[in-house]
Amino acid sequence: MADLDKPLLSVRDLAVEFQQPGGSVRALESISIDLRPGRVLGVVGESGCGKSVTARAILRILDRNGSITAGKVTLDPATATPTDLTALGAQSPEMREVRGGRIGLIFQEPMAALSMQYTVGNQLMEAIRVHRDPGKAVARQRAINLLREVGIPRPESRVDAYPFQLSGGLRQRVGIALALAAEPDILIADEPTTALDVTTQAQILALLRRLQTDKKIALMLITHDMGVIAQMADDVAVMYLGRIIEYAPVGEVFGAPRHPYTRSLLRSVPSMLAKPRSRLATIGGAVPQPNARPKGCPFHPRCPDMIVGRCDTIAPAPVPPGSVGASCFLVEDAAA
Ligand SMILES: Nc1ncnc2c1ncn2[C@@H]1O[C@H](COP(=O)(O)OP(=O)(O)O)[C@@H](O)[C@H]1O
Ligand code: SF4
Ligand SMILES: [Mg+2]
Repeated sequence: MADLDKPLLSVRDLAVEFQQPGGSVRALESISIDLRPGRVLGVVGESGCGKSVTARAILRILDRNGSITAGKVTLDPATATPTDLTALGAQSPEMREVRGGRIGLIFQEPMAALSMQYTVGNQLMEAIRVHRDPGKAVARQRAINLLREVGIPRPESRVDAYPFQLSGGLRQRVGIALALAAEPDILIADEPTTALDVTTQAQILALLRRLQTDKKIALMLITHDMGVIAQMADDVAVMYLGRIIEYAPVGEVFGAPRHPYTRSLLRSVPSMLAKPRSRLATIGGAVPQPNARPKGCPFHPRCPDMIVGRCDTIAPAPVPPGSVGASCFLVEDAAA
């Protein structure tokens, strides 16, 4: 059985840049996270903060104009046989085995993973057989079992349905079944419930939680919604403008948030329980574009606690890899 304290995947000081007509743009900087078996890392931040780019960099599915310019993504870092995924070719057989085989991916829109042209069963069987071919009959039975596991009624007949014949909620359940097909021990879910209505959202989150707990999966759950974080996360990475500005256990993030941005996020969802999908709309100003990154602390133009002459001049240090804390001068000063 997996050692629950040892990470299955570690990201250290990861940086990503995109080439654009005007020059290169740094989308991620100094990203460090750990994914542990049986735990949920919630990754939260406003739109454009780099959550999806982080997931795509780990899986090596960045857009063609993007590249990892620094840092490491290590699979099995605590074992005698760690693998640095950044050293593998994005399309190498090893990386293809990691994608889907070791790390399952769940998208916001399940149709991103599903084809309209094939039945649910054929797509599941394909995913089962790519990584470990048990033969057609066994794969079909396993596809039916997977559908049952993700709570799809009448799986024996639904296995022959096409995705367009299913509701959005059932499709996302199929998306989850597809991600689980090769029995990965790590799952990355990128806003898996954002496209769903509130009731279906709650059901899908409960399903993810149950599967993750039962199978001791390391889950990285990306969301813009602090309500989802409260409900699901064990640990939280708060992102702002391509950096992790706070990393802490969920109880500390809600009970004693360190970073002014984290406090703003929490203030912006006062009716969190009444309106679980409310957006982070009440923070003054907007997230700047990565190519217009403010000098000094990236949050200073919007920060209510900004120290003139300091926060607008030099950047606070990133949260040290593997530790709890926040990237903010106030936090540094309090610790000193
Ligand atoms: N292919 C690309 N070319 C240029 N910039 C990109 C590309 N993909 C993403 N970005 C930029 O990277 C930043 C982070 O994007 P993303 O990770 O999708 O944000 P989030 O998922 O947090 O909403 C955004 O500013 C986005 O414009
Ligand atoms: S470093 Fe300064 S501007 Fe940045 S979050 Fe802290 S107080 Fe605000
Ligand atoms: Mg995104």
